[in-house]
Amino acid sequence: MMETVESIILNGFNFQKMTSENLDKLFELNPNRREHIRPISVESSGAFGIGGYQYAVCEYIFVEDVLMNPYDVRDFLISSSYVCEQNGAPGMQQVIANDWVRPYLKYLYYLLHVKNIVKEGRMGMNHFAAYTNVFWKEMPCRDINYHRPHIDPGDYAFNLFLSDTFDEDDGTAVYSLTHNYEKWVDVMEMESGCGLRLEEIYKMMYPEEFGVRGMDKWKCFKGDKDYALEGIIPAQFNCISGYKGSLFHSPHYDISKYPDGHLRYSLVSMVAPGVLERTLSDVSKERIASQLDKVL
Ligand SMILES: [Fe+2]
Repeated sequence: MMETVESIILNGFNFQKMTSENLDKLFELNPNRREHIRPISVESSGAFGIGGYQYAVCEYIFVEDVLMNPYDVRDFLISSSYVCEQNGAPGMQQVIANDWVRPYLKYLYYLLHVKNIVKEGRMGMNHFAAYTNVFWKEMPCRDINYHRPHIDPGDYAFNLFLSDTFDEDDGTAVYSLTHNYEKWVDVMEMESGCGLRLEEIYKMMYPEEFGVRGMDKWKCFKGDKDYALEGIIPAQFNCISGYKGSLFHSPHYDISKYPDGHLRYSLVSMVAPGVLERTLSDVSKERIASQLDKVL
């Protein structure tokens, strides 16, 4: 039987009210945070136009000690929505409304602009989609999750790590895929430069033998005959990592290093596809080209 209207009272919402002032205070940025652009160095193969040199072909954003109250933010996120574990991704995900994390998204928006990743006016707050990833030892997943790197459905992904017990070598692993002796770390650059159609690249990424065995348990992928591990974007407590969604990547979560019950908890904020006009790789290539101009 449906509840009567009279059973819902205004005071019943009091404990769930959140003012914008409280939200700003909760997500207060640490004035001593440290913002970096860091390279992932890949042995040059000529794939990026300048053969014979070793240089960075992709870069990522890394912000250290970003929040003043990371534990309060973590408690707030955990209690703010239900968790789903049946959406195809490993572990569990919690959809987080943009309004709940608006001050944080404003900061990501600022980072994207100030680092020249997206031009002013090309996106707004609603181009973000936020959710948390809850990964743990023994979590259910498919072989396609743990034996293959993936690309994201968004242009750019940010991770705010809120577990305080990560091994320093864990994080997000970036891989290269080789075709005709050329290495590629970015599916979009591979499509435009390697002579294969996107569908053919997808067949390389996801051979038929993967994804047909049902649910299994997480294993940490470290590369195989197709993929070479090129670098790991670190996961550190209260730090943000940001990278292009088109990189071949996967969570590097080596469960052999952790006790039973360990959780890898992070807030993911994804920029919608089609938003970015200039990418970090473009910036990298311009910087490399200008450096080479000076050398030559
Ligand atoms: Fe991803």
